Amino acid sequence: MPDPMHFDRHADLYERARPPYPAALWERLDALGLLVPGVPALDLGAGSGQATRGLVRAGMEVTAVEPGTALAARLREWLPSVRVIVASAEEAVLPTAAFELATVATAVHWFDLGVVLPKVHAALRPGGRLAVWRNAYGDASVPQTAFRQRVQAIVDRRSAPPRPGPDESQTSEWARLLEAGGLFRSAHVEEFAWAVELDEEGVRSLFTTFSDWSESEADQAARAVRDLGGTVIEHYRTPLIVLDRVA
Ligand SMILES: C[S@@+](CC[C@H](N)C(=O)[O-])C[C@H]1O[C@@H](n2cnc3c(N)ncnc32)[C@H](O)[C@@H]1O
Repeated sequence: MPDPMHFDRHADLYERARPPYPAALWERLDALGLLVPGVPALDLGAGSGQATRGLVRAGMEVTAVEPGTALAARLREWLPSVRVIVASAEEAVLPTAAFELATVATAVHWFDLGVVLPKVHAALRPGGRLAVWRNAYGDASVPQTAFRQRVQAIVDRRSAPPRPGPDESQTSEWARLLEAGGLFRSAHVEEFAWAVELDEEGVRSLFTTFSDWSESEADQAARAVRDLGGTVIEHYRTPLIVLDRVA
């Protein structure tokens, strides 16, 4: 069963190995008027700050919620202007009507939405917005590469059942879940396709950060890169769902 504390155990590796969110995503958030200097924003499941950093760069006043103590320590070190709350999104004590924007980057699948969505709704000001995005490590619209065939073979050998609920590619299903309680209305859905070249070590590091991958499986993926000539092009997607807070 994937463990949400997996990331905390790999805090340094996480920051090094995970590719940043695509520039086009940040451009879209800006074009939608979500990134406003001086405006308060809440980043839930902040990790090492890969999304938090973009909000800080935009000049926003950021509060980050992160339950992992090692990750929270790094957030404080790397982003000293950010107020860090060390707690889960379910348990964090948040101020009421305090934020214009709430963000959740590659973390919403860990949340109990029945608890977290009402909390976010209460923490946002009227007219506030919730932006949910994630890096999906695969792109079904691209013909399967030899490396992806090897990845699929590793996954197929698993005996553990896949995580319940929609997977990372089911964006409209996620939008439906985020709207389900009637507290948020989907206003913008978009997917950004991008690619990255990874070598053997890049694959080992990145796949080690995935909570459903064992170290031995990450080693097998790295070996596949070596067999295939030393580098592979990986095609990924970043789905974005922006929701309006319903009054
Ligand atoms: C894949 S990482 C994403 C981190 C960061 N947002 C990013 O974009 O790189 C998932 C993060 O969610 C955090 N997390 C897991 N369960 C959580 C929960 N219930 N409440 C808040 N954060 C949670 C983990 O500790 C981890 O930092």
